[in-house]
Amino acid sequence: MLNQLITFLDSSPSCYHGVDNLAKRLAAEGYTALAEPDHWDLQPGGKYYLTRNQSAILAFRIPARQPDRFILAASHSDRPCFKVKENPELETEYIRLAVERYGSMLMSTWLDRPLSIAGRVLVETAEGITARLVNLDRDLCMIPNLAIHMNRKANDGYAYNPAVDLIPLTGSLATKGSFSRLVAEAAGCRPEEILGHDLFLYNREKARVWGADNEYLSAQALDDLQCAWATMEGFLQAKPGPAVPVCCVFDNEEVGSGTMQGADSTFLSGALARICAGTGMDYRRAVAGSFLVSADNAHALHPNHPEYADATHRPAINGGIVLKFNANQRYTTDGVSAAIFRKACRMAGVPTQTYCNRADLPGGSTLGNISTAQVSIPTVDVGLPQLAMHSCYETAGTKDAGYLVRAMATLYAMDLPQVN
Ligand code: CO
Repeated sequence: MLNQLITFLDSSPSCYHGVDNLAKRLAAEGYTALAEPDHWDLQPGGKYYLTRNQSAILAFRIPARQPDRFILAASHSDRPCFKVKENPELETEYIRLAVERYGSMLMSTWLDRPLSIAGRVLVETAEGITARLVNLDRDLCMIPNLAIHMNRKANDGYAYNPAVDLIPLTGSLATKGSFSRLVAEAAGCRPEEILGHDLFLYNREKARVWGADNEYLSAQALDDLQCAWATMEGFLQAKPGPAVPVCCVFDNEEVGSGTMQGADSTFLSGALARICAGTGMDYRRAVAGSFLVSADNAHALHPNHPEYADATHRPAINGGIVLKFNANQRYTTDGVSAAIFRKACRMAGVPTQTYCNRADLPGGSTLGNISTAQVSIPTVDVGLPQLAMHSCYETAGTKDAGYLVRAMATLYAMDLPQVN
């Protein structure tokens, strides 16, 4: 199972590739692709998925017997990285690429390592416009550090300026024009046929398992591809249950979710309404009885900085699924949703742990409360424990994704307990 996760991580250098890999997995399992502009003819026992903008995906099954509710999981496909600007070639004594920050990354991690470019291009064809996924898949760029001799304060906490310090080098002046030629080659078209692009830098380092007992997994975008993969795998492994199982992966969590393919959109609510219309469920009654797991990675106790963890909330790598709590509801978990999720984990034999910010640290947020504003369902915020969140090479455990697979497979098949 760990090898499948590693293959997924290594073949998902952009949100588009991640969603494409999930779609291919669903198609291979016999799921029918639906399109939002089409009429949907949903059948009892049917298995379906749909995508939006190629960067968000939602899969569901219609039970053979009349359902009356949903059990859902939500995660995100995007990661903090650098987006390549339009007309990116900057010409000085070198050719560099103009890029823009996407999300809040740990900037220093992008320096001094081979980088490449992946995403999608929009190609003009005889039939119209085709979106093609591209991965230049070669060591193409580097963001070189300034030598210590020129920046004696580099080790005293340096403030990187993204407009100066973080511009990737791609070649000598003689390589001018290479960017559009290489992208066109990867897309199988001529440069002048490219009408648009959404291209991102990615780290060329493959996922690695390491540690004295091979207990750690490092890779890019563990936040949140680890949860996207594990919730989808749990969805696929779940036995039939009374509810409609739904697995959703949104885009743009790292920039606030407020896009048409983000959690703050109609993607989920629209699909749920159409599933209700196609199965005879009452939308409001179905939603009222449903349950959502918002799965986005959590901070493990840091080996060098234990002081940032709360006194009684110190998530351990390979210690199990982390339930996230916040009194101000930046995480949606409350007593009720925690109880339901813990019951599923007990049934699955999966360990759980808890996360809470230190009372004097604000902490982050995730897509649970944003999704809940669109579709108001009891929600639990969970994640897998990891280190170095938003580095371009993050570290987690080799066991925790398997725990989430088992927990979700159990939860999806459950007759949800009534809380009286
Ligand atoms: Co995340």
